[in-house]
Amino acid sequence: MTPTRIEVGGPQPYPVLVGHDVTRELGGLLTGATRVALLHPPTLRERAARVRDDLVAAGYAVHPIEVPDGEAAKTLAVAGRCWDTLGELGFTRSDAVVGLGGGATTDLAGWVAAAWLRGVRVVHVATTLAGMVDAAVGGKTGINTARGKNLVGAFHPPAGVVCDLAALATLPAADYRAGLAEVVKCGFIADPAILELVEADPAAAVTPGNPAERELVERSVRVKARVVGEDLTEQGLREILNYGHTLGHAIERAEDYRWRHGDAVAVGLVYAAELARRLGRLDAATAARHGAVLRSLGLPTTYRADAYPELLATMRIDKKARGNRLRFVVLDGVAQPVSIDEPDAETLSAAYSEVSA
Ligand code: GLY
Repeated sequence: MTPTRIEVGGPQPYPVLVGHDVTRELGGLLTGATRVALLHPPTLRERAARVRDDLVAAGYAVHPIEVPDGEAAKTLAVAGRCWDTLGELGFTRSDAVVGLGGGATTDLAGWVAAAWLRGVRVVHVATTLAGMVDAAVGGKTGINTARGKNLVGAFHPPAGVVCDLAALATLPAADYRAGLAEVVKCGFIADPAILELVEADPAAAVTPGNPAERELVERSVRVKARVVGEDLTEQGLREILNYGHTLGHAIERAEDYRWRHGDAVAVGLVYAAELARRLGRLDAATAARHGAVLRSLGLPTTYRADAYPELLATMRIDKKARGNRLRFVVLDGVAQPVSIDEPDAETLSAAYSEVSA
């Protein structure tokens, strides 16, 4: 089946290709490169070998670099090891990095490419649902430091993104489910058809390879493509992608990052909806729709009742970096996101009752 091509606009436009076995399209995104560094975790060794064989057949000199699985890849030490390898290979400005994996791998690969010679081409091959609909698209790259996640990085748009739906078949069920939280988020902020597709058959939606999968991925990628195409560096519109993330990030931190990002975002979405309802912005039915759709997918929608003071303190620290005011993305209705500044403390606290367990 022909891949769907979704264009991301902005200063450096690029395509996102969605389909089955689309890694064959990768070569076309690397034209002009001689050497290709293929970063991948050990769990994707076989997939990386197939990609390498295809690229070698297309005439590229391919150098696989194995990086740790998951967040363990996003360290200065791992990035340094990758740069050492690029140096040994004599990697030049016209060569290219490929990141094959989930969001952590593509975040690392993007940063390795962004910093090498002040920026070489990177192409992402996203193999997880969260990677396809979020991390791989939009040019945010980075690594973690002892102080927190994604504190070092750059906006470095890829030259292309390949979403190979075939890779989802082997994704653990819990990771697939967590990725759906970002899909649902896209539905609420911009595309009600996503919500209707999920609501039509939630049991199917959590199953990799389901009939709606391709449309859900494509619609979510289109939402993200439109937003980051207009606002790469998060000066305004891009903030709507943080819907559900203010509380979500605080929960991730309270859990010492043992929760999946999407699971924390699911709780954050329900909280943000309740906040908007209590502020008189969102109708009760749309607010309730958040919990209903997320629960139907088996995603968590509650968190510890006693955690609120700690979560509030974390949300404040996070936002201090942006000028000392607590900001939330909320909805005035489906597909009507708006940012609000410093909601009153009582409403913030009362809204937590909706998610407290
Ligand atoms: N994950 C949110 C963004 O890319 O801006």
